[in-house]
This record gives sequence, C-alpha cells and structure tokens, in this order.
Amino acid sequence: MTSTDDSRDDATPIPGRPGDPLRGRHVVLGVSGSIACYKAIEITSRLVQAGAIVDVVLTKAATEFVTPLAFKAITQRTPYTDMFDVNGPDGEAHVELARRADVMLIAPATAATLSRLATGLAEDFVTLTAIATTAPLLIAPAMDTQMWAHPAVQTNAATLTDRGAQFIGPAEGRLASGRVGAGRLVEPERIVDDVRARLGREHGDLAGRAIVVTAGGTREAIDPVRYISNHSSGKMGYAIAEAARDRGADVVIVSTVGLAAPVGVRVVRVDSAVQMQAAVHRECAEADVLVMAAAVADFRPATAADQKMKKSEGTAGTTIDLVENPDIIGTTPVTSSRGPLLKIAFAAETQNLIENAAAKMKSKGARFIVANDVTATDAGFGSDDNRVTILDDQGGRADLPLMTKYAVGHAILDRVRPLLG
Ligand code: CTP
Repeated sequence: MTSTDDSRDDATPIPGRPGDPLRGRHVVLGVSGSIACYKAIEITSRLVQAGAIVDVVLTKAATEFVTPLAFKAITQRTPYTDMFDVNGPDGEAHVELARRADVMLIAPATAATLSRLATGLAEDFVTLTAIATTAPLLIAPAMDTQMWAHPAVQTNAATLTDRGAQFIGPAEGRLASGRVGAGRLVEPERIVDDVRARLGREHGDLAGRAIVVTAGGTREAIDPVRYISNHSSGKMGYAIAEAARDRGADVVIVSTVGLAAPVGVRVVRVDSAVQMQAAVHRECAEADVLVMAAAVADFRPATAADQKMKKSEGTAGTTIDLVENPDIIGTTPVTSSRGPLLKIAFAAETQNLIENAAAKMKSKGARFIVANDVTATDAGFGSDDNRVTILDDQGGRADLPLMTKYAVGHAILDRVRPLLG
C-alpha cells in the first residue's frame, strides 16, 4: 500500500472497535522537532489500532529526534518530510493530504511550529499541510515552561485559537529540562481521545444533544467512615458516556465512583441518592436524555452519626433505622429547557428478569429499560462486558449477546437516536 492510496486491502479487517469515530477516518499527524517526538510514535500506534488511516508529516527538525521509518512501519504508509523530494509522490502531495484529512493533529507542536502556523509561513511539510486543509486542526504543544509562557508563544496560541484551532494542553509536569511546570505534551492516550471526541462532534449522530448518565452505586452514610452501598463499579455508565461522547453528544456523568473522567466528558461527583437526585435534576434541566445506569440504594440510614460509631460494650445487636430514598428517575421532570426528556432505566435483577424489568419501565416513566441478570459470572458488576435485554414501551424486546459495555452503550444509543426526532 502506498501513502497516496486511500483504500485498505479488502482482505484486512478494519482494526478498532465498532462505533469508534476514528475508524476509517483519515488523520494527518504533523510532528515537529521536540524531545517529545518519541511520543508521536505511540500516538500513531494508538490511532492505527483504533482503525484510523494515518499519514505522518514531519518537519526536518523532527527527523533529528525520530526517524520517518518508525512511522512507516506503524502506518504502512510513507511519511512526508521533504517538500522538494524529486522522488516523492506525484503532484501536490500536501494539497492531496490536506484534501483527504478528516482531522489534522500536530503533536508535538514546538514554539517554532506555532509561530509558523500563526503567520502562515509554510516552509515545512507540517505548516504547508496545515494551511492547505479545511479539516479541524488540533495542536498539542510541547516546550519548556518559560517558552510556553513567553508572550510571543502565547500570542501565537491565541491567534490560532481565534482561528478555530483546538489546543490539547500543554500539561503540567516534569519537563526535559528537569523543571516542573506547564509545557509537557499531554499523554498520548488522552491526545487520541481528544481527536476521537472532535471527530465525534464533527460527524456523530448525537452532535448537539445533551445526555446525562448516572454511574455507580450510591453510598448511604452510617457515620463519617461507613456507608451502605452495593457492588456497582460504575463501568456501565462510563462506557455509555464514552459512546455518547464518540457520537458527538455533550455528556455529563453523575457518578459515585472515582474512575478517570473520559476526555471531553464532565463528571459531577456525588455520594448519596439524595445528592444524586439533586445533581440529576439540575443537569437534566438542560438535557435531552437521562440514562439512569446507577445502582441507587433503595434505603438510607434515617440519621448518619456525626462521629464514628464505637464498638463499646452493649452495642452488639444495634439496629440501624432505614428510610426510603427518593426515586430519582421517577421524580425527574419530563421536560427540560430543550423539550421532552427521554428517560432510559436500568434493571439489575437476580430473578424474573423480564417481568420485573417491564414493570419497572412502566412505573418509572422510561421509554425503554436495559435489563441484566446480575447473577451471571461473565458479565455485569465489575466486568468490562455485559449481556443485556432491552425492552421498550411499545412491547419490543432485544436479547443482546455478551458484548463490551462500550458496545452495549452504542446499542442503547442506537435506540435513543430515532426517539429524539
Ligand atoms: N432508580 C432510581 N431511584 C431509585 C432507585 C432506582 O432512579 N431510588 C433507577 C435505577 O437507576 C434504575 C431503575 O431505577 O435505572 C431501576 O433500579 P432498580 O434498583 O433495579 O429498581 P428499584 O426501583 O430499586 O426496585 P427494586 O429494588 O424493587 O428492584
């Protein structure tokens, strides 16, 4: 396969997971000369593994740090370095690349590259391609703290931002100089997620929609150190949030767990059902969809002790009085500032899955309910996989096979999309 070939070999399945916005997309990665160049190799690898078609363009300075061959080995496509190579691809390679790009990412971007981009000084392959493309431009800078803070660099970054470029970082941390500060290239995994999120917003079928997802089991305080909860890991909610982000939605997770926030997703941390209810009501006031994946405790201690309860003599047999928690999904207003709120419920059951789930869907005013048998050992709580049955309020039923929670997220959103009109 050559670097001007737009297609893939038919016999080779596209890598990556279905629903990933990077799959089949054309990414032009611009690499400029920084010690962080070696991280561009990992970025390339992650993009390729996600199913993107990646063309790499390097400045001459970048080739001092990293060889084009490394990129060729990963992408199976010839990188571009020399604007004046008589043996290079026919025609105007930068124009062709720029035309085909769904997105252009420059990582790492040096101070010199920012300057050239800001002024349109197209004297290397990276700047040349960047000013020839109309695709979204994402820029991940890497330089020393003082350089990043310099007014010349800040002015160039501001100019590029005003022109619509999206900056990824730089992050704070340890720099090559040994100093600690702002200027570090954002970690490759997060840069790739930013590209993913951007492609989702550009092409996703939920672009412009606002979705609230709840995740994790609520924690009902007994005293300052103890609580009543359940085995929910929150992974299902986070996977739905990621899938919704990848389809372009504005996503908020109301969460009880400390999982890493997916790039581009806002996380509101809560503990108890009462706190979750307040957060859900607030967030849903401006949302299109509520996906209630959290495992909400039905009851909470009537009072939480101010101080840690001590095991002194005579406390054996102590009872804790419980009061019922509010029904969060049921009490969330059915309309928001954006129109009707579409509610999706979950039902984690240990018996009579279908009957119980169907009854819950009705009582909670949900358009459909995602039911799973939490006694299954290969799916459910804590696992990355799930096997669910989706019941809708029209009597429809879909028994889905065992799949990743991310795939379940897409299966849910496939059903959400047509209901949004
Ligand atoms: N739910 C809720 N508020 C509650 C309890 C549950 O919003 N106080 C939501 C859950 O997030 C889920 C759906 O309602 O989307 C069903 O939750 P589940 O715990 O399975 O059902 P319960 O209503 O608690 O019924 P039961 O405990 O009898 O199974």
